[in-house]
Amino acid sequence: MKKVFLVLMIVMFWFKVSAQKDPTLALTPPMGWNSWNIYACDINEQLVREVADAMVKRGLKDAGYEYVVIDDCWHGERDSLGFITADPVKFPSGIKALADYVHSLGLKFGIYSDAGWTTCGGRPGSRGYEFQDAMKYAEWGVDYLKYDWCATDNLSAHGAYETMLHALAKTGRPILFSMCEWGQNKPWEWAKDIGHMWRTTGDIYDNFYGEWNHGTWSSWGILNILDMQDGLREFAGPGHWNDPDMMEVGNDLTVNESRAHFSMWCMIAAPLIAGTDIQHATNATIEILTNAEAIAINQDKLGIQGFKHSKTDSVEVWYKPLANEEWAVCFLNRDSISKTIDYNWVETLVVDDFSNRKTNFAKTAYSLRDVWTHTDLGNTKKPLKTKVPGHDVLMLHLKPIKE
Ligand code: GLA
Repeated sequence: MKKVFLVLMIVMFWFKVSAQKDPTLALTPPMGWNSWNIYACDINEQLVREVADAMVKRGLKDAGYEYVVIDDCWHGERDSLGFITADPVKFPSGIKALADYVHSLGLKFGIYSDAGWTTCGGRPGSRGYEFQDAMKYAEWGVDYLKYDWCATDNLSAHGAYETMLHALAKTGRPILFSMCEWGQNKPWEWAKDIGHMWRTTGDIYDNFYGEWNHGTWSSWGILNILDMQDGLREFAGPGHWNDPDMMEVGNDLTVNESRAHFSMWCMIAAPLIAGTDIQHATNATIEILTNAEAIAINQDKLGIQGFKHSKTDSVEVWYKPLANEEWAVCFLNRDSISKTIDYNWVETLVVDDFSNRKTNFAKTAYSLRDVWTHTDLGNTKKPLKTKVPGHDVLMLHLKPIKE
C-alpha cells in the first residue's frame, strides 16, 4: 500500500514539474515583432521572411528584438487526424520552413492561436486540440505562442490557459506563453505561474488618445492603455509581465507620439513587441525602436514596472527603479502643446514601498542623462528647467553621484 502511495506521489510530482511554465524565459520583458497591428490578416510567408530580413538589416535584432510572431490568419484546416495545417495559399512552404528561415537569421519564431472554438479572425481555435496543437508547434520549431480569447463561451480563463500551459510543457520545448484574454478575468491575480506575459486590456490602435468603438468592443489609444495599467505594477516581474499590447510606434502617430509611446512602454517594463512595417519604416521610427538607452531601461534586470509619481498641469512624472540604485525618470506631456518644466529635485521625495526604494534628492545627488538626445544634462542639485513638446517626453537616466 505504502509503495503504491509513493509511486502515486512521484507521478503527481513529475506531472506537476513537467507541467510548469519554462522558468528560463522572459526574465526581462520579451522583445520582438508581431504581424497584427500593421498587416492584420493580410500575411503570407514571403512577407514574414522579408520582415525578418529587415529586422536584421535595420538593426532590430542587434538592439535585442528576438521574436518574429505571426498573429491571426496563418491557419488552414485541420487534417483528418485533427492536426492543424497552414493556409496552403499564404504559407505554401509550411510553417516549419518559415520557422527554420527565421532561426537561420538568429531570431526566434512565434505563432498565434486561441483558447476558443475559433480565433478572432474566424480560423480554427485550439479548444479540444490543445495537446495536438502544442505538439505541432513544437515539431515546427515554435518558440512563442500568443493565445487569444475569442469564441470561448463560458470557459474558465484560468482552466483554459492552464490546459495550454500543460500542453506546451509536455512538448519539452521552451515556448514563451503570451496570454491574450484582454484583462477580462484579471490574469495578473492568477497567471504568474501560467503565462510569461498577459494582456491587461483590449486592443490598442494607432491614436495617441482615443476610443475606437467597434460596436461590441473598443480599441484604445496609447494613453488610454497606459492609464489602464494603474494598480497593476506589483503583479509584474521577471518571468511574468503585464502586457499593455503590441506597439504602434511608426504607425499613424507623429514622431513625438511614437517616442512618447515607446518611452512609456519602456518605463512600465512592457514587452516590446513592435507592430510596425519594419521594411518601409522611416529612419526616425527605426531610431526610436532601436534606442539602446531607452531599451536598457526597459530591460533592466530588476524588472520593476515604473509608476506615476506626480502630475502638474498636463505633465506626468514617472519613476522606474533600476539596478545599482539608479532610476529612470520620464516627463510625459499629455497635451498637444509644448509645456515648460521647472522641476526642483531637492524638494522631491520619492518613496516606492513596492520596490522598497526611497530617494531624497536633498541628500543624494544624481547625474542626469537624456536618453533621447544622448546628452548629459548636469545633475539633480539644480532644478531642471526645460520644455517638453506636445505629446512627447523627456526621458532621463539618473545615476547616484558618488562623492
Ligand atoms: C484579438 C487580439 C489582437 C489580435 C486579434 C487577431 O483582437 O487582442 O491582438 O491578435 O485578436 O484576430
